[in-house]
Amino acid sequence: MSIKTIFYSYSGITRGIAEKIQLECGGDLVEVKTVKSYSALSAYSKGCYRAMKGESDVIEPSSIDVSESDLLVIGTPVWAFRAAPAINAALNALTGCEGKSVILFATCSAKAKDTLPRLAEALTAKNVQVAGSFVFDKNDVQNPEKIDALIAAVKLAGGADITVAV
Ligand SMILES: Cc1cc2nc3c(=O)[nH]c(=O)nc-3n(C[C@H](O)[C@H](O)[C@H](O)COP(=O)(O)O)c2cc1C
Repeated sequence: MSIKTIFYSYSGITRGIAEKIQLECGGDLVEVKTVKSYSALSAYSKGCYRAMKGESDVIEPSSIDVSESDLLVIGTPVWAFRAAPAINAALNALTGCEGKSVILFATCSAKAKDTLPRLAEALTAKNVQVAGSFVFDKNDVQNPEKIDALIAAVKLAGGADITVAV
């Protein structure tokens, strides 16, 4: 069972969780980066606007082939109660995703609102089945039990034959 964890992280919190998933569950990590980086100001002024409109940034990598992966994990920070524009772009960049399963997670300071339901809807439209959704607010990201619950869900969705790197 091969897992691909795809994430965007502006300030490192989503990356921290993605790295824990890879450490515990194995598989590949794909960090999506914006070609044009955001400043602290433009993240709020332009990035939030783009997130609210459901727009996509130009990202690297521009194409993410998941045809060899059995399970996808996608992580995003919450921007203006939506997925970051880089993750909208990551969804568009997926190739070979039809029929796969995905576990979603979002990190936020307080409230994600419908960030993950909207991502789930977009993925369902691509014939990707959502096997779980996890939101981490600023307290949850320090809570090992919450992170363990996500990791357990990834292991469960990934099947019993996952080889865990030790
Ligand atoms: C541009 C911007 C918009 C944000 N909007 C929200 C929001 O709507 N709700 C929320 O709870 N947190 C919001 N946050 C906080 C981030 O979602 C939170 O700090 C997240 O864990 C950051 O993840 P990262 O370090 O991987 O970028 C926002 C942060 C930024 C930079």
